[in-house]
Amino acid sequence: MKHLWIIMDGNRRWAKARFMPALFGHKAGFDNLRDIAKLASKKWIWYLTVWALSTENLVKRTPEEVANILKLVDKTITLLPEFMEQNIQVQLIGDIGKLPDKSQKILGQLVSETQSNSGLILTIALVYGWQDEIIRATKKIILAGKIPEEITEQEFKKYLDTAHLPNPDVIVRTGGDLRHSGFLLFDSAYSEYYFTEKKWPEFDEEELDRVIEFFESSQRNFWK
Ligand code: FPP
Repeated sequence: MKHLWIIMDGNRRWAKARFMPALFGHKAGFDNLRDIAKLASKKWIWYLTVWALSTENLVKRTPEEVANILKLVDKTITLLPEFMEQNIQVQLIGDIGKLPDKSQKILGQLVSETQSNSGLILTIALVYGWQDEIIRATKKIILAGKIPEEITEQEFKKYLDTAHLPNPDVIVRTGGDLRHSGFLLFDSAYSEYYFTEKKWPEFDEEELDRVIEFFESSQRNFWK
């Protein structure tokens, strides 16, 4: 499998079931992301993209919860030694300019220090949402002075945050909900969806193997 996307859902429910606050779940989610990135790398997945914070989360969650998630965003820098050791390159998508300066600086360092790594490309989606992405892409197209005849599917893709990424083969959503929540609508035209009841902190190697098996057994004829 070339490109796996994961909507990491269910952290708070996982914590609640253990009578713990939301932060406990997000911390467990953070640790699990580190483990799954390592495993994905070993299993020859080329690209792993994870949705860590949506455009909507930023405005709809309590300031306390957003601050806690941002602390975890900043903590990604502690993973740098592991990313270097595992040859993982980090990239970002989303409206990163909406993050606090401190987080932008930390993430910038993570991206630049890992940019020569040639293994798994781990893309973290932050302040990301399709509706927002399409609006930002449209603004860029207008600013570039494109005329309607020039706007083809290929041309449009160039203005999306995901311009440099291949379309995802599989989109996994953990946590049991059967919706995409505005994730990647342009790129997912031919993606397989894999839904699991497991909450993100419970998504483990066994489940990752099931996703790979699910993809390998899918009949993909690309509209033919
Ligand atoms: C969805 O679970 C998860 C999030 C909104 C945050 C995801 C964050 C992490 C996995 C940890 C941080 C990772 C990085 C890279 C900073 P939810 O809170 O919607 O849970 P629920 O569906 O049970 O309410």
